[in-house]
Amino acid sequence: MTTRYTDYHSHLLPGIDDGSGTLEHSLEMARILVDCGFGTVHCTPHRIKGCFDNEPEKVRQGTRQLQRHVHEAGIDLKLVPGTEHYMDEFLVDQAGDALTTGTVPHLLVEVPFAAGKEILPPVVSWMLNRGIVPLFAHPERCNVFEPGCRDAGLMSLLWKRQKQPDMESSLIVSLKESGCRFQGNLGSFAGYYGHEIKQRALLFLRHGVYSCLGSDAHKSERLGQIVSQGIDAIVSVVGDAAALRLLTGEELHR
Ligand SMILES: [Fe+2]
Repeated sequence: MTTRYTDYHSHLLPGIDDGSGTLEHSLEMARILVDCGFGTVHCTPHRIKGCFDNEPEKVRQGTRQLQRHVHEAGIDLKLVPGTEHYMDEFLVDQAGDALTTGTVPHLLVEVPFAAGKEILPPVVSWMLNRGIVPLFAHPERCNVFEPGCRDAGLMSLLWKRQKQPDMESSLIVSLKESGCRFQGNLGSFAGYYGHEIKQRALLFLRHGVYSCLGSDAHKSERLGQIVSQGIDAIVSVVGDAAALRLLTGEELHR
């Protein structure tokens, strides 16, 4: 039997955030993801206070409804309720009842694109101290994770760090070492967000930053093409076996 992939990040639920707007569109997206090899999709609408107040029960209910429609439409796809939590000052109040994934609870968090590094340490420490693992969504799209150097530069940095433990490492390496996990967007590897983000995603991929992947699908247009190109790019860099581990999110379910 062919192993089917898990999409850890999608905006598949209709009418709940800036993703799919209608049930029909959601079903079309679901069909495309199945055609791309997915057997499970985490429905992770934005949760941004005052903008998208998607509380857990609303997401659970929306996922149950869409699952029923998916089943009735004959689409072989399992849906899992989740959330893409905005990493701001409100997260601490909301994380207690948040929809997590994995045997050890992982919470998908999005760093605001314009955020500075200073927002991360207190929130990350708070989460880890409560046994919640931050699963950072698409770090390659967040400027806060820019390693500040090209591929060779990062390798050099890592090497020097081994020799000089006190040397400041890149933020993403430090967070990974402290227990955080990272979800890559398939579209990033396909170049959907531009050349620079693609290069950053490939850099992170080569350095083993990612634990799982997601479509971050908001709409059906070009979805199949973007996801397929992203998977092909990942396979070409790390090979079939490692790509499969990422596409199944094996590490999060140990
Ligand atoms: Fe997203």
